[in-house]
Amino acid sequence: MYIVFEGIDGAGKSTQIQMLNEWLEANGFRVETLVEPTDSKVGKLIREILQRPDATTETVQKVLALLFAADRMLIMDKLNEESKIILSDRSFISSLAYQDNPEWVKVLNKYAKQPDLLLLLDLDVKTSVSRTSGEDTFENEETLTRVKQNYLELAKDYTHEIIDANNGVNKVSSDIKKAVAPHLGMCPDCIR
Ligand code: TYD
Repeated sequence: MYIVFEGIDGAGKSTQIQMLNEWLEANGFRVETLVEPTDSKVGKLIREILQRPDATTETVQKVLALLFAADRMLIMDKLNEESKIILSDRSFISSLAYQDNPEWVKVLNKYAKQPDLLLLLDLDVKTSVSRTSGEDTFENEETLTRVKQNYLELAKDYTHEIIDANNGVNKVSSDIKKAVAPHLGMCPDCIR
């Protein structure tokens, strides 16, 4: 099962993936976690470009979409481990939300794996801005407002659960467990 975590910067994806991972393993599941952008050379180039002031221009966004797609292709084989639950910090859905050019992004991601479940960690933009360093060009109120809206629209195209990420870490974690449980044949009321 391929479960992707999406949400604007600072939504708590990495913390929540770690917490869900521990819980799933304690319940006997085999789990693998992934992060996009990866730590490949392409991923490093992406992080460099993200800090450039021109990262939001149309041309650089097209280049970024290419690089994100290539970075993703490099980890494609890991996604096909049928015996494991894959928890992924971002996916091609990030490209749809951030690069804002669906035709181009869809062509480039023709072979990207479709998620079995999308967990959208929905956070207020002001909280996001206060939690992030502002180093990346996307970490500003205007961009994140657009991205948040894109996510809420995009979620409708996938099997999804929207999680209120404005709550405390433990409440968010328990909401995620309750949301995931039925998709894994577990009883949501049995979750502590
Ligand atoms: P992020 O998860 O925020 O990494 P970190 O926690 O190390 O800062 O990802 C970096 C940025 O990349 C984030 O602003 C979202 C953006 N991004 C895209 O624009 N398109 C994509 O396809 C992906 C995967 C990420």
